[in-house]
Amino acid sequence: MSTVPAAVEFRSVTKVFGSGDDRHTALDGIDLRIEPGEIFGVIGYSGAGKSTLVRLINALDKPTSGTVTISGTPITGVPESAVRRLRRDIGMVFQQFNLFRSRTAAGNIEYPLKVAGWKRAERKARVAELLDFVGLTDKARAYPDQLSGGQKQRVGIARALATSPSLLLADEATSALDPQTTGEVLRLLKKINAELGVTIVVITHEMDVIRAIADRVAVLAEGRIVELAATFDVFAAPRATPTRSFVATVLHDRPDATELERLRELHGGRLVTVDVDNHSGLGAALAAATAADVRFEIVYGGVSTLQDKTFGSVTLALHGPDAALDRVVADLTRKAG
Ligand SMILES: Nc1ncnc2c1ncn2[C@@H]1O[C@H](COP(=O)(O)OP(=O)(O)OP(=O)(O)O)[C@@H](O)[C@H]1O
Ligand SMILES: [Mg+2]
Repeated sequence: MSTVPAAVEFRSVTKVFGSGDDRHTALDGIDLRIEPGEIFGVIGYSGAGKSTLVRLINALDKPTSGTVTISGTPITGVPESAVRRLRRDIGMVFQQFNLFRSRTAAGNIEYPLKVAGWKRAERKARVAELLDFVGLTDKARAYPDQLSGGQKQRVGIARALATSPSLLLADEATSALDPQTTGEVLRLLKKINAELGVTIVVITHEMDVIRAIADRVAVLAEGRIVELAATFDVFAAPRATPTRSFVATVLHDRPDATELERLRELHGGRLVTVDVDNHSGLGAALAAATAADVRFEIVYGGVSTLQDKTFGSVTLALHGPDAALDRVVADLTRKAG
């Protein structure tokens, strides 16, 4: 048993909407433990149950069965007053920002402090601090309509952080933003995690978002968790079918069947795809190939870094005497495998 309570824990959680013929199981037997201080990603296609999961974490909805626990305190089967207290420790960031159009950036950030009963002078000081943290001091008096999408999301994030929650939920927080702005917002989330120690749950349908910030990721499909692992492991060795297609959307390092056919026509020789990782003996295997009169060309592939580890693959076209080719292929697939 772990001594530190999980930031979020789901035990056998099921959520069913509707009844009779309209019955729909949005979440089906979810067991999940999110550790304090981690950035936890949840990825899934539309309708997988991601937002339903978020609504159960912040207790905007109740599970049909099972229990949800936040920092060791159950939020299921407890009075509404207790739920309200727990909810104060959770910040929420939305895809469409959900800012008040009639309030300035400062006014939006100040709002939750007013609700929480902070005195005016303390509110002003806290708002100034938050504007500085998200890099928007010069936009304090701007209205949402005068801000870019990325700036609006910074305001949304500052507002979510106003009362210093220990848990931040971001449901598709970057889905309305362009890739560069997405990168800026993700860096801000990373800073919040690193400097403030806030646990972050990132909900997304984009594997790039997971790759950029998540420590671990759960893949949700039709209401079930089909894979849950460290982000690096998911990218390096995806197991479940949905995971494989998500990973394929960002890594184009392996040729598909059509591409292989094209490479074969273009280069001839024997084609072999080799995994590349930190311990790969690719260099040595290629030196041995050259010594054995086997020529090679690199014809496809991609290598990159994730969480400071190297991974990817290269496809080689090999030419040479058959017996030597057999040895080289065996060598390449063994050493680098
Ligand atoms: N209040 C509700 N009443 C009935 N069905 C619902 C309700 N909320 C969600 N659902 C259904 O539950 C399933 C999961 O919905 P959910 O919003 O959690 O998906 P999602 O993964 O967030 O999708 P998206 O990526 O489109 O936001 C869907 O089939 C949806 O139609
Ligand atoms: Mg959703």
